[in-house]
Amino acid sequence: MDWGENLIEGLKWSDNIINREGKERVAEMIAAKASDGDVIGAGSGSTVYLALYAIAKKIKETDWAIQIIPSSLEISMTCIQLGIPQTTLLNKKPDWTFDGADEVDSNNNMIKGRGGAMFKEKLLICNSKKTYILIDKSKLVSNLGQNFPIPVEIFPSSLLYVENELRNMGATEINLRLAKGKDGAIITENGNLILDARFTSIDNILESRIKSITGVIESGLFIGYDVEVLVS
Ligand code: 5RP
Repeated sequence: MDWGENLIEGLKWSDNIINREGKERVAEMIAAKASDGDVIGAGSGSTVYLALYAIAKKIKETDWAIQIIPSSLEISMTCIQLGIPQTTLLNKKPDWTFDGADEVDSNNNMIKGRGGAMFKEKLLICNSKKTYILIDKSKLVSNLGQNFPIPVEIFPSSLLYVENELRNMGATEINLRLAKGKDGAIITENGNLILDARFTSIDNILESRIKSITGVIESGLFIGYDVEVLVS
């Protein structure tokens, strides 16, 4: 039985998508890569949101059996709204994944996680033979960390321990990410907190050093992942 009129039908995640035209161009590029039968991992953020619109259009035109594995509730609800079938990593392995990024350097190393979904995003990328990262030119940087801090998802009671360890690793500024539509800190979909940590220099082993701190679930630093970056 259908729910009838409901909130998901009318959901709009943002009225104000920065660089919307550029993001729509890469969204079209990704929809052109979809084929009948594909199981596709989808990251989070506004670029992924626009790409899902392009994929939904393609599904309508072709009647192809495409399934999405979403990295967040936001993206899952978008799939419901657009009528795109979904599955999970427990059912299927993705044929490929697409995602956005906040910063990408010349070696395709990235900072992600402005949307707080980096744990499941990394999980999708690790499970996919092929990953496309969709960005507009504003995301290209010469040095990681020049615009964004590194988001670090942490188990709540590890807050002060992780803060201390990040400072010992050279973090120059650490903030507890605060929520906008509730009082207090952001609680992730996994029930955790997010610290945003700035480092003056980010080397190739920082991702694994941060991950080794007890209490850290995942960071938004992606060093050395095999991804193809599509820039509009
Ligand atoms: C969410 C992410 C996003 O991919 C990243 O923040 C880019 O977002 P947008 O496409 O809205 O610019 O990592 O956790």
